[in-house]
Amino acid sequence: MDRIRIRGGNKLNGSIEISGAKNAALPLMIVSLLTPETLTLHNVPRLVDVLRLQKILGNHGVDIMTAGKRAGQAATAGETLRISAKTIVDTTAPYDLVSKMRASFWVLGPLIARCGEAKVSLPGGCAIGTRPVDMHLLAMEKLGAVCDIENGYVIARAKKGLKGGHIAFSKVSVGATHAALMAAVLADGDTIIENAATEPEIGDVAECLVKMGAKIEGIHSRTLKITGVTSLHGAEHTVIPDRIETGTYAMAVGMAGGDVTLRGARADTLDNVVLTMQRAGIAVDKTNEGLRIRRNGSGILPVDVTTDPFPGFPTDLQAQFMGLMTMAQGTSHIRETIFENRFMHVQELARLGADIHLHGDMAEVRGVRKLTGADVMATDLRASVSLVIAGLAAEGETMLHRVYHLDRGFEALEEKLSACGADVTRISG
Ligand code: EPZ
Repeated sequence: MDRIRIRGGNKLNGSIEISGAKNAALPLMIVSLLTPETLTLHNVPRLVDVLRLQKILGNHGVDIMTAGKRAGQAATAGETLRISAKTIVDTTAPYDLVSKMRASFWVLGPLIARCGEAKVSLPGGCAIGTRPVDMHLLAMEKLGAVCDIENGYVIARAKKGLKGGHIAFSKVSVGATHAALMAAVLADGDTIIENAATEPEIGDVAECLVKMGAKIEGIHSRTLKITGVTSLHGAEHTVIPDRIETGTYAMAVGMAGGDVTLRGARADTLDNVVLTMQRAGIAVDKTNEGLRIRRNGSGILPVDVTTDPFPGFPTDLQAQFMGLMTMAQGTSHIRETIFENRFMHVQELARLGADIHLHGDMAEVRGVRKLTGADVMATDLRASVSLVIAGLAAEGETMLHRVYHLDRGFEALEEKLSACGADVTRISG
Protein backbone atom coordinates (compact mmCIF):
# COMPACT_ATOMS: atom_id res chain seq x y z
CA MET A 1 0.00 0.00 0.00
CA ASP A 2 1.31 3.49 -0.87
CA ARG A 3 2.53 5.88 1.82
CA ILE A 4 3.36 9.58 1.71
CA ARG A 5 6.51 10.89 3.37
CA ILE A 6 6.57 14.53 4.41
CA ARG A 7 9.75 16.21 5.60
CA GLY A 8 8.52 19.31 7.38
CA GLY A 9 9.97 22.79 7.62
CA ASN A 10 9.87 24.10 4.02
CA LYS A 11 7.86 27.21 3.21
CA LEU A 12 5.51 27.03 0.22
CA ASN A 13 6.04 29.47 -2.64
CA GLY A 14 4.63 29.54 -6.16
CA SER A 15 1.24 28.62 -7.54
CA ILE A 16 -1.20 25.71 -7.48
CA GLU A 17 -3.88 25.00 -10.09
CA ILE A 18 -7.21 24.21 -8.43
CA SER A 19 -8.98 21.13 -9.87
CA GLY A 20 -12.65 20.65 -10.66
CA ALA A 21 -14.79 19.98 -7.58
CA LYS A 22 -15.18 16.30 -6.69
CA ASN A 23 -18.53 16.94 -5.01
CA ALA A 24 -19.89 18.65 -8.13
CA ALA A 25 -18.36 16.22 -10.66
CA LEU A 26 -19.93 13.16 -9.01
CA PRO A 27 -23.58 14.35 -9.06
CA LEU A 28 -23.05 15.87 -12.52
CA MET A 29 -22.01 12.45 -13.80
CA ILE A 30 -25.14 10.98 -12.20
CA VAL A 31 -27.29 13.63 -13.94
CA SER A 32 -26.35 11.91 -17.22
CA LEU A 33 -28.84 9.15 -16.30
CA LEU A 34 -31.68 11.63 -16.94
CA THR A 35 -31.21 11.87 -20.71
CA PRO A 36 -30.64 9.49 -23.62
CA GLU A 37 -28.46 12.19 -25.21
CA THR A 38 -24.77 12.89 -24.51
CA LEU A 39 -23.73 15.03 -21.55
CA THR A 40 -20.24 16.46 -21.98
CA LEU A 41 -18.47 17.43 -18.76
CA HIS A 42 -15.23 19.44 -18.78
CA ASN A 43 -12.78 19.94 -15.90
CA VAL A 44 -13.53 16.59 -14.27
CA PRO A 45 -10.79 15.83 -11.70
CA ARG A 46 -8.74 12.64 -12.06
CA LEU A 47 -9.77 10.90 -8.85
CA VAL A 48 -10.42 7.37 -7.66
CA ASP A 49 -14.04 8.35 -6.81
CA VAL A 50 -14.61 9.50 -10.41
CA LEU A 51 -13.27 6.18 -11.73
CA ARG A 52 -15.48 4.29 -9.26
CA LEU A 53 -18.56 6.19 -10.37
CA GLN A 54 -17.71 5.46 -14.02
CA LYS A 55 -17.83 1.78 -13.11
CA ILE A 56 -21.14 2.15 -11.26
CA LEU A 57 -22.74 4.06 -14.16
CA GLY A 58 -21.31 1.48 -16.58
CA ASN A 59 -23.29 -1.14 -14.68
CA HIS A 60 -26.51 0.74 -15.59
CA GLY A 61 -25.46 0.73 -19.27
CA VAL A 62 -23.95 4.22 -19.41
CA ASP A 63 -21.17 4.75 -21.94
CA ILE A 64 -18.36 7.10 -20.92
CA MET A 65 -15.65 8.32 -23.25
CA THR A 66 -12.70 10.16 -21.76
CA ALA A 67 -10.98 12.61 -24.10
CA GLY A 68 -7.23 11.99 -24.03
CA LYS A 69 -4.81 14.58 -22.72
CA ARG A 70 -3.88 17.21 -25.30
CA ALA A 71 -0.25 18.04 -26.13
CA GLY A 72 1.24 20.45 -23.60
CA GLN A 73 -1.58 19.94 -21.12
CA ALA A 74 -0.46 19.72 -17.47
CA ALA A 75 -0.83 16.42 -15.62
CA THR A 76 -3.30 18.20 -13.34
CA ALA A 77 -5.54 19.51 -16.15
CA GLY A 78 -9.12 18.26 -15.77
CA GLU A 79 -10.55 15.67 -18.09
CA THR A 80 -13.46 15.86 -20.48
CA LEU A 81 -16.02 13.06 -20.15
CA ARG A 82 -18.65 12.38 -22.80
CA ILE A 83 -21.38 10.46 -21.02
CA SER A 84 -24.20 8.73 -22.82
CA ALA A 85 -27.05 6.94 -21.06
CA LYS A 86 -28.84 6.08 -24.30
CA THR A 87 -30.33 2.93 -22.84
CA ILE A 88 -30.50 2.05 -19.16
CA VAL A 89 -29.93 -1.69 -19.12
CA ASP A 90 -30.10 -2.28 -15.37
CA THR A 91 -31.84 -0.27 -12.62
CA THR A 92 -30.05 -2.07 -9.78
CA ALA A 93 -27.06 -0.52 -8.00
CA PRO A 94 -25.49 -3.44 -6.12
CA TYR A 95 -23.98 -3.43 -2.63
CA ASP A 96 -20.41 -4.14 -3.72
CA LEU A 97 -20.38 -0.91 -5.78
CA VAL A 98 -22.51 1.42 -3.59
CA SER A 99 -20.73 0.44 -0.37
CA LYS A 100 -17.44 1.81 -1.76
CA MET A 101 -18.78 5.29 -2.38
CA ARG A 102 -21.76 6.88 -0.68
CA ALA A 103 -22.54 9.36 -3.47
CA SER A 104 -23.41 6.44 -5.76
CA PHE A 105 -26.65 6.09 -3.75
CA TRP A 106 -27.73 9.29 -5.51
CA VAL A 107 -28.52 7.27 -8.69
CA LEU A 108 -31.84 6.47 -6.96
CA GLY A 109 -33.65 9.69 -7.99
CA PRO A 110 -32.65 9.76 -11.68
CA LEU A 111 -33.33 6.03 -12.11
CA ILE A 112 -36.88 6.32 -10.73
CA ALA A 113 -37.47 9.50 -12.74
CA ARG A 114 -36.30 7.97 -16.02
CA CYS A 115 -37.28 4.29 -15.61
CA GLY A 116 -40.05 4.30 -12.99
CA GLU A 117 -38.08 1.91 -10.75
CA ALA A 118 -34.78 1.49 -8.98
CA LYS A 119 -33.16 -0.97 -6.62
CA VAL A 120 -30.24 0.64 -4.84
CA SER A 121 -28.20 -0.79 -2.01
CA LEU A 122 -28.28 1.20 1.26
CA PRO A 123 -24.85 2.80 1.59
CA GLY A 124 -24.33 1.90 5.26
CA GLY A 125 -22.44 3.95 7.84
CA CYS A 126 -18.98 5.31 7.35
CA ALA A 127 -16.04 6.65 9.26
CA ILE A 128 -17.55 10.10 9.92
CA GLY A 129 -21.01 9.14 11.23
CA THR A 130 -24.14 7.05 10.72
CA ARG A 131 -25.31 9.08 7.70
CA PRO A 132 -28.92 7.89 7.24
CA VAL A 133 -30.89 8.26 3.97
CA ASP A 134 -34.37 8.92 5.43
CA MET A 135 -34.63 12.35 3.79
CA HIS A 136 -33.74 10.90 0.37
CA LEU A 137 -36.63 8.43 0.75
CA LEU A 138 -38.99 11.13 2.02
CA ALA A 139 -38.25 13.18 -1.11
CA MET A 140 -38.94 10.22 -3.43
CA GLU A 141 -42.21 9.47 -1.58
CA LYS A 142 -43.34 13.11 -1.79
CA LEU A 143 -42.88 12.77 -5.56
CA GLY A 144 -45.13 9.72 -5.62
CA ALA A 145 -42.67 6.83 -5.46
CA VAL A 146 -43.30 3.86 -3.18
CA CYS A 147 -40.12 2.92 -1.33
CA ASP A 148 -39.51 -0.34 0.53
CA ILE A 149 -36.40 -1.59 2.21
CA GLU A 150 -35.67 -5.26 1.61
CA ASN A 151 -32.46 -7.16 2.27
CA GLY A 152 -30.39 -4.00 2.55
CA TYR A 153 -31.79 -2.49 -0.65
CA VAL A 154 -34.12 0.43 -1.27
CA ILE A 155 -36.69 -0.70 -3.80
CA ALA A 156 -38.51 2.28 -5.26
CA ARG A 157 -41.33 2.21 -7.78
CA ALA A 158 -43.33 4.86 -9.60
CA LYS A 159 -44.88 2.86 -12.40
CA LYS A 160 -47.00 5.77 -13.67
CA GLY A 161 -44.11 8.21 -13.34
CA LEU A 162 -43.26 10.75 -10.65
CA LYS A 163 -45.62 13.61 -9.76
CA GLY A 164 -44.60 17.07 -8.58
CA GLY A 165 -44.87 17.55 -4.81
CA HIS A 166 -43.99 19.69 -1.80
CA ILE A 167 -40.78 18.60 -0.09
CA ALA A 168 -39.87 20.36 3.17
CA PHE A 169 -36.60 19.05 4.60
CA SER A 170 -36.28 19.06 8.40
CA LYS A 171 -32.54 19.72 8.10
CA VAL A 172 -30.18 20.74 5.36
CA SER A 173 -28.82 17.80 3.37
CA VAL A 174 -26.65 18.09 0.28
CA GLY A 175 -27.39 14.54 -0.90
CA ALA A 176 -31.16 14.70 -0.29
CA THR A 177 -31.35 18.04 -2.14
CA HIS A 178 -29.49 16.50 -5.11
CA ALA A 179 -31.85 13.51 -5.04
CA ALA A 180 -35.00 15.63 -4.89
CA LEU A 181 -33.81 17.96 -7.64
CA MET A 182 -32.71 15.21 -10.00
CA ALA A 183 -36.03 13.40 -9.59
CA ALA A 184 -38.30 16.47 -9.74
CA VAL A 185 -36.99 17.74 -13.08
CA LEU A 186 -38.73 14.86 -14.88
CA ALA A 187 -41.80 14.67 -12.59
CA ASP A 188 -45.23 15.64 -13.87
CA GLY A 189 -46.09 19.12 -12.51
CA ASP A 190 -44.52 21.55 -10.05
CA THR A 191 -42.28 20.70 -7.11
CA ILE A 192 -41.21 22.95 -4.26
CA ILE A 193 -38.12 21.99 -2.26
CA GLU A 194 -37.92 23.88 1.05
CA ASN A 195 -34.83 24.09 3.23
CA ALA A 196 -32.70 23.00 0.25
CA ALA A 197 -28.92 22.91 0.61
CA THR A 198 -27.25 25.92 -1.02
CA GLU A 199 -23.76 24.44 -1.35
CA PRO A 200 -22.20 25.75 -4.61
CA GLU A 201 -22.09 22.18 -5.95
CA ILE A 202 -25.93 22.05 -5.84
CA GLY A 203 -26.03 25.29 -7.84
CA ASP A 204 -23.58 23.81 -10.36
CA VAL A 205 -25.78 20.74 -10.85
CA ALA A 206 -28.93 22.89 -11.14
CA GLU A 207 -27.27 25.10 -13.77
CA CYS A 208 -26.27 22.03 -15.78
CA LEU A 209 -29.85 20.69 -15.53
CA VAL A 210 -31.15 24.01 -16.88
CA LYS A 211 -28.76 23.69 -19.86
CA MET A 212 -30.35 20.26 -20.42
CA GLY A 213 -33.84 21.80 -20.58
CA ALA A 214 -34.94 21.61 -16.92
CA LYS A 215 -37.05 24.41 -15.45
CA ILE A 216 -35.70 25.45 -12.05
CA GLU A 217 -36.25 28.70 -10.15
CA GLY A 218 -34.45 29.85 -7.02
CA ILE A 219 -31.06 28.30 -7.82
CA HIS A 220 -28.56 29.06 -4.98
CA SER A 221 -31.45 29.78 -2.56
CA ARG A 222 -33.09 27.69 0.21
CA THR A 223 -36.30 27.26 -1.84
CA LEU A 224 -36.21 25.60 -5.24
CA LYS A 225 -39.20 25.56 -7.56
CA ILE A 226 -39.11 23.00 -10.34
CA THR A 227 -41.57 22.65 -13.19
CA GLY A 228 -41.26 19.13 -14.52
CA VAL A 229 -40.54 18.51 -18.22
CA THR A 230 -41.13 15.32 -20.19
CA SER A 231 -37.52 14.88 -21.31
CA LEU A 232 -34.08 16.42 -21.03
CA HIS A 233 -31.50 16.77 -23.78
CA GLY A 234 -27.71 16.66 -23.98
CA ALA A 235 -25.54 19.60 -22.90
CA GLU A 236 -21.99 20.72 -22.27
CA HIS A 237 -20.90 21.87 -18.81
CA THR A 238 -17.68 22.77 -16.99
CA VAL A 239 -17.32 21.59 -13.38
CA ILE A 240 -16.75 24.45 -10.86
CA PRO A 241 -13.37 24.70 -9.09
CA ASP A 242 -13.06 22.71 -5.87
CA ARG A 243 -13.62 25.00 -2.88
CA ILE A 244 -12.51 22.31 -0.42
CA GLU A 245 -9.24 21.74 -2.29
CA THR A 246 -8.79 25.53 -2.35
CA GLY A 247 -9.34 25.83 1.40
CA THR A 248 -7.04 22.89 2.05
CA TYR A 249 -4.09 24.45 0.19
CA ALA A 250 -4.83 27.82 1.79
CA MET A 251 -4.49 26.18 5.19
CA ALA A 252 -1.33 24.35 4.09
CA VAL A 253 0.26 27.71 3.22
CA GLY A 254 -0.97 29.17 6.51
CA MET A 255 0.67 26.27 8.34
CA ALA A 256 3.99 26.11 6.47
CA GLY A 257 4.28 29.86 5.74
CA GLY A 258 5.10 31.31 2.32
CA ASP A 259 3.29 32.91 -0.59
CA VAL A 260 1.15 30.85 -2.98
CA THR A 261 -1.46 31.75 -5.59
CA LEU A 262 -4.30 29.25 -5.92
CA ARG A 263 -5.07 29.59 -9.62
CA GLY A 264 -8.70 29.33 -10.67
CA ALA A 265 -9.98 29.41 -7.06
CA ARG A 266 -13.42 31.00 -6.68
CA ALA A 267 -13.45 33.25 -3.63
CA ASP A 268 -17.25 33.65 -3.75
CA THR A 269 -17.64 30.00 -2.72
CA LEU A 270 -15.35 30.48 0.28
CA ASP A 271 -16.31 33.79 1.98
CA ASN A 272 -16.57 32.28 5.44
CA VAL A 273 -13.26 30.41 5.10
CA VAL A 274 -11.44 33.48 3.77
CA LEU A 275 -12.66 35.54 6.74
CA THR A 276 -11.65 32.82 9.20
CA MET A 277 -8.16 32.55 7.67
CA GLN A 278 -7.74 36.33 7.82
CA ARG A 279 -8.71 36.29 11.50
CA ALA A 280 -6.01 33.65 11.98
CA GLY A 281 -3.47 36.20 10.71
CA ILE A 282 -3.07 34.79 7.20
CA ALA A 283 -3.22 37.21 4.29
CA VAL A 284 -5.81 36.13 1.72
CA ASP A 285 -6.30 38.34 -1.34
CA LYS A 286 -8.49 37.96 -4.39
CA THR A 287 -6.48 38.39 -7.59
CA ASN A 288 -7.28 38.06 -11.28
CA GLU A 289 -5.82 34.56 -11.19
CA GLY A 290 -7.63 33.32 -8.08
CA LEU A 291 -6.63 33.62 -4.43
CA ARG A 292 -3.21 34.63 -3.09
CA ILE A 293 -2.35 33.23 0.35
CA ARG A 294 0.56 34.59 2.41
CA ARG A 295 2.07 34.16 5.83
CA ASN A 296 5.57 35.46 6.28
CA GLY A 297 7.04 35.86 9.75
CA SER A 298 3.80 36.43 11.68
CA GLY A 299 2.39 33.72 13.95
CA ILE A 300 -0.93 31.90 13.58
CA LEU A 301 -3.73 33.35 15.73
CA PRO A 302 -6.33 31.12 17.42
CA VAL A 303 -9.87 31.36 15.96
CA ASP A 304 -13.05 29.58 17.11
CA VAL A 305 -15.03 27.86 14.37
CA THR A 306 -18.37 26.05 14.13
CA THR A 307 -19.16 23.95 11.06
CA ASP A 308 -22.48 24.68 9.35
CA PRO A 309 -24.20 24.13 6.02
CA PHE A 310 -23.18 26.65 3.32
CA PRO A 311 -22.58 29.59 3.64
CA GLY A 312 -21.20 28.51 7.05
CA PHE A 313 -17.78 27.02 7.66
CA PRO A 314 -17.67 23.67 5.78
CA THR A 315 -17.37 20.40 7.69
CA ASP A 316 -15.09 19.24 4.85
CA LEU A 317 -12.47 21.79 6.01
CA GLN A 318 -12.82 21.19 9.75
CA ALA A 319 -9.95 18.69 10.02
CA GLN A 320 -7.61 20.86 7.94
CA PHE A 321 -8.41 23.93 10.06
CA MET A 322 -7.74 21.92 13.18
CA GLY A 323 -4.34 21.00 11.70
CA LEU A 324 -3.62 24.73 11.29
CA MET A 325 -4.82 25.58 14.82
CA THR A 326 -2.49 23.01 16.43
CA MET A 327 0.30 25.59 16.08
CA ALA A 328 -1.72 28.73 16.86
CA GLN A 329 -0.51 31.12 19.57
CA GLY A 330 -3.31 30.22 22.00
CA THR A 331 -6.42 28.06 22.35
CA SER A 332 -9.16 27.67 19.76
CA HIS A 333 -12.48 25.83 19.91
CA ILE A 334 -13.76 23.87 16.92
CA ARG A 335 -17.35 22.65 16.98
CA GLU A 336 -18.57 20.00 14.50
CA THR A 337 -22.34 20.18 13.97
CA ILE A 338 -22.82 18.19 10.73
CA PHE A 339 -21.36 14.73 11.44
CA GLU A 340 -21.26 13.17 14.91
CA ASN A 341 -17.99 11.32 14.46
CA ARG A 342 -15.76 13.59 12.49
CA PHE A 343 -12.90 13.94 14.97
CA MET A 344 -10.97 10.82 13.98
CA HIS A 345 -7.95 12.96 13.13
CA VAL A 346 -7.57 14.19 16.72
CA GLN A 347 -5.68 11.14 17.96
CA GLU A 348 -3.39 11.18 14.95
CA LEU A 349 -2.64 14.90 15.28
CA ALA A 350 -1.78 14.13 18.91
CA ARG A 351 0.87 11.68 17.62
CA LEU A 352 2.56 14.70 16.04
CA GLY A 353 2.49 16.52 19.38
CA ALA A 354 -0.80 18.45 19.12
CA ASP A 355 -2.63 19.26 22.36
CA ILE A 356 -6.35 18.67 21.71
CA HIS A 357 -9.14 17.86 24.18
CA LEU A 358 -12.56 16.67 23.05
CA HIS A 359 -15.74 17.79 24.85
CA GLY A 360 -18.66 16.20 22.97
CA ASP A 361 -19.00 17.95 19.61
CA MET A 362 -16.29 20.49 20.49
CA ALA A 363 -12.52 20.19 20.22
CA GLU A 364 -10.39 22.46 22.36
CA VAL A 365 -7.11 22.97 20.51
CA ARG A 366 -4.26 24.40 22.59
CA GLY A 367 -1.61 25.66 20.23
CA VAL A 368 1.87 24.18 20.68
CA ARG A 369 5.25 25.71 19.72
CA LYS A 370 6.31 22.73 17.65
CA LEU A 371 5.07 19.48 16.18
CA THR A 372 7.38 16.52 15.54
CA GLY A 373 7.08 14.00 12.69
CA ALA A 374 5.59 10.53 13.31
CA ASP A 375 3.82 7.64 11.56
CA VAL A 376 0.14 8.50 11.19
CA MET A 377 -2.92 7.16 9.41
CA ALA A 378 -6.45 8.38 8.86
CA THR A 379 -9.85 6.92 8.23
CA ASP A 380 -11.27 9.48 5.84
CA LEU A 381 -10.27 11.80 3.09
CA ARG A 382 -10.27 15.18 4.85
CA ALA A 383 -8.73 13.75 8.03
CA SER A 384 -5.85 12.37 5.92
CA VAL A 385 -5.08 15.72 4.39
CA SER A 386 -5.13 17.45 7.79
CA LEU A 387 -2.21 15.20 8.72
CA VAL A 388 -0.36 16.29 5.58
CA ILE A 389 -0.90 19.93 6.59
CA ALA A 390 0.42 19.29 10.09
CA GLY A 391 3.34 17.30 8.65
CA LEU A 392 4.40 20.30 6.53
CA ALA A 393 5.22 22.23 9.71
CA ALA A 394 6.36 19.32 11.91
CA GLU A 395 10.06 18.85 12.61
CA GLY A 396 11.48 15.79 10.89
CA GLU A 397 9.66 13.09 8.98
CA THR A 398 5.93 12.30 8.95
CA MET A 399 4.82 9.09 7.24
CA LEU A 400 1.16 9.03 6.22
CA HIS A 401 -0.32 5.55 5.81
CA ARG A 402 -3.58 4.50 4.07
CA VAL A 403 -3.02 7.03 1.31
CA TYR A 404 -5.94 5.60 -0.70
CA HIS A 405 -8.26 7.95 1.21
CA LEU A 406 -6.37 10.94 -0.24
CA ASP A 407 -6.55 9.55 -3.78
CA ARG A 408 -10.36 9.56 -3.52
CA GLY A 409 -10.48 13.34 -3.37
CA PHE A 410 -7.19 15.16 -3.99
CA GLU A 411 -5.79 15.22 -7.50
CA ALA A 412 -1.97 15.16 -7.74
CA LEU A 413 -1.51 16.30 -4.13
CA GLU A 414 2.22 15.50 -3.92
CA GLU A 415 2.94 17.14 -7.29
CA LYS A 416 1.04 20.29 -6.38
CA LEU A 417 2.73 20.70 -2.98
CA SER A 418 6.20 19.70 -4.23
CA ALA A 419 6.01 22.29 -7.02
CA CYS A 420 5.76 24.93 -4.27
CA GLY A 421 8.82 23.65 -2.41
CA ALA A 422 7.34 21.11 0.02
CA ASP A 423 9.27 17.88 0.57
CA VAL A 424 6.42 15.43 -0.06
CA THR A 425 7.07 12.05 -1.68
CA ARG A 426 4.83 9.07 -2.42
CA ILE A 427 6.42 5.73 -1.59
CA SER A 428 4.80 2.95 -3.57
CA GLY A 429 4.20 -0.56 -2.33
C1 EPZ B 1 -22.13 15.71 1.16
O1 EPZ B 1 -22.42 14.49 1.81
C2 EPZ B 1 -20.69 15.64 0.73
N1 EPZ B 1 -20.48 14.53 -0.19
C3 EPZ B 1 -19.80 15.49 1.96
O2 EPZ B 1 -18.45 15.51 1.55
C4 EPZ B 1 -20.05 16.67 2.91
O3 EPZ B 1 -19.30 16.48 4.09
C5 EPZ B 1 -21.53 16.77 3.25
O4 EPZ B 1 -22.33 16.83 2.02
C6 EPZ B 1 -21.87 17.99 4.08
O5 EPZ B 1 -21.48 19.15 3.41
C7 EPZ B 1 -20.60 14.74 -1.50
O6 EPZ B 1 -20.97 15.81 -1.96
C8 EPZ B 1 -20.27 13.60 -2.41
P1 EPZ B 1 -25.54 15.56 3.94
P2 EPZ B 1 -23.94 14.08 2.13
O7 EPZ B 1 -26.68 14.75 3.45
O8 EPZ B 1 -24.80 14.60 1.08
C9 EPZ B 1 -27.83 14.04 7.83
C10 EPZ B 1 -16.21 14.73 1.46
O9 EPZ B 1 -15.28 14.62 2.30
N2 EPZ B 1 -28.75 13.29 6.95
O10 EPZ B 1 -25.51 17.01 3.61
O11 EPZ B 1 -23.94 12.64 2.41
C11 EPZ B 1 -26.40 13.50 7.80
O12 EPZ B 1 -26.25 12.36 8.63
C12 EPZ B 1 -17.63 14.34 1.79
O13 EPZ B 1 -16.02 15.10 0.30
C13 EPZ B 1 -29.87 12.69 7.50
O14 EPZ B 1 -30.09 12.73 8.72
O15 EPZ B 1 -24.17 14.89 3.49
C14 EPZ B 1 -25.62 14.70 8.27
O16 EPZ B 1 -25.66 14.78 9.65
C15 EPZ B 1 -17.77 13.65 3.10
N3 EPZ B 1 -30.73 12.01 6.66
C16 EPZ B 1 -26.40 15.87 7.66
O17 EPZ B 1 -27.70 15.35 7.36
C17 EPZ B 1 -30.54 11.95 5.32
O18 EPZ B 1 -31.35 11.34 4.62
C18 EPZ B 1 -25.80 16.45 6.39
O19 EPZ B 1 -25.44 15.40 5.51
C19 EPZ B 1 -29.39 12.59 4.76
C20 EPZ B 1 -28.53 13.26 5.60
